[in-house]
Amino acid sequence: MSGREAILREAEAAEILRRLKPSLRPTQDELRRAAAAFREIKAVIDATLSSELKGIEYVVELEGSVAKGTAISGDLDLDVFILIGRKDLNNRWLETHVVGPLVRRFTCLAGYRVSLRYASHPYIHLITPSGIEADIVPAYRAPSPAAIVTPVDRTPFHTRYIKEHLAEPLKDEVRLLKKFFKSIGVYGAEIRNEGFSGYLCELLILKYGSFLNLLKNIVRWREPQVIAVDEGALVEASELRKVFRNAPLIVLDPVDPRRNAAASVSRRSFALAMVASYEFLLNPDEKFFNPVHTYEDLNRLETVLNSTGRAALIIFWRMKRSTPPDIMWGEVKSAGRSLANVLRSRSYTVTDVRFWAHEDLGILAAYIEIFKTFGDYVLRRGPPRAGPEMLRFMHKHLGDVPVRAWIDHEGTPYAVTKVSKSFVDIVFEYVNTHKLKHAEAVVVCERLRNAASFLKEKIAHNSPGILTDFLYWLTEAVLKTPPWLARGVSSSGSM
Ligand code: CTP
Ligand code: MG
Repeated sequence: MSGREAILREAEAAEILRRLKPSLRPTQDELRRAAAAFREIKAVIDATLSSELKGIEYVVELEGSVAKGTAISGDLDLDVFILIGRKDLNNRWLETHVVGPLVRRFTCLAGYRVSLRYASHPYIHLITPSGIEADIVPAYRAPSPAAIVTPVDRTPFHTRYIKEHLAEPLKDEVRLLKKFFKSIGVYGAEIRNEGFSGYLCELLILKYGSFLNLLKNIVRWREPQVIAVDEGALVEASELRKVFRNAPLIVLDPVDPRRNAAASVSRRSFALAMVASYEFLLNPDEKFFNPVHTYEDLNRLETVLNSTGRAALIIFWRMKRSTPPDIMWGEVKSAGRSLANVLRSRSYTVTDVRFWAHEDLGILAAYIEIFKTFGDYVLRRGPPRAGPEMLRFMHKHLGDVPVRAWIDHEGTPYAVTKVSKSFVDIVFEYVNTHKLKHAEAVVVCERLRNAASFLKEKIAHNSPGILTDFLYWLTEAVLKTPPWLARGVSSSGSM
């Protein structure tokens, strides 16, 4: 790319961002409705807790993106915190004195939909009569970040820090970043996404001043990347890499330097953010913010999979009712990853593991893909250094026919061995012996079309939207083409 082209494209990128900004800003009406909903929720909380928490001080405070002015239009969820002046807030106490009475009170009010949920703490999820979603989270009102007991206690300090430091024009830049990360699937610190939290987006914009400048920096990052919003707080980077071992991205939390504000970012999310930044800078397009998902005919997907030397299967888990999302996702992701390790230990080349869920129905799926073996044989690579382990490897496989173990031109031992168990058998054996604690049923589908039929007949018969969502995901899993990378390919297909 010549320098001149790069400048032209930057102007195009800036033009797209300029057009997008106003559409991401919440309207006056949205803000008014959110404020009214908060006032109403606060009044109910006060009416309930004034008798329940006699003698214990508490305040009801709005946290999160609505309080910080960084919420996106159409997505104004309230994070209502009850900050309690008591350090020993165990779950049982919170259930008896705070969450339980509030659930009962809201349930009696017309138009509220209420559910009790658990993260590290019990909290309440509400949908108000005007359709606004809110989390009500009890936390300890710590005098300083150093005194917090659980991670939720840190939230008010984050809100305060952003309110004090993030200037008005930067809020548009934060919204662009959040929307960009949502579109490429790396937004949100939950286990589901293992991505960038709203607070992390705010810190990155504070550090780099604009969305475009941040992207230009992201493409120069190197894993593990260390970032301090306030350079003065930067301890030796090599020390930080030791403390936050295995983190691809380390962003020091300005309110609590013991913490990595990017701890939730997985290596996959880090890499995707970098690739998408690079592609957007080279090829600016609105699809990076408003992706158009398409799906392909299942026969075509099977053909592409086969003709590119791959095989895949899909596992569905039905989780027990009301399992918290973080628990569901945690169990399924760790099962998928450990299954990949089992396959690799048997010399299968695992090329991809992906996850899908319909949280409300408690259905999770994993897509496991391998590079196909040649007939009944797999290639095994032995220990690369000459020594006792290499000798053991060679000795073990010298009797194999039709090909015996050999040492290649670079001194690495190899053997071609007969597979003792097929890919499908290993997966079946795994799911039968590794039951998930919160799953009540598991189904393994050997073909993509069986997976789609299973979902259609057994689960999604009343909600075609679920099936379409699944097909978008499946198409992307097989073709490896997220909508923001698609270059004039693909058409939507039928099943
Ligand atoms: N939080 C929490 N428990 C919840 C909901 C929120 O602890 N049930 C905390 C988060 O840890 C975070 C803050 O509340 O510190 C706001 O969380 P979140 O809504 O995820 O981020 P926002 O900045 O509000 O961004 P968004 O626009 O995505 O809502
Ligand atoms: Mg929020």
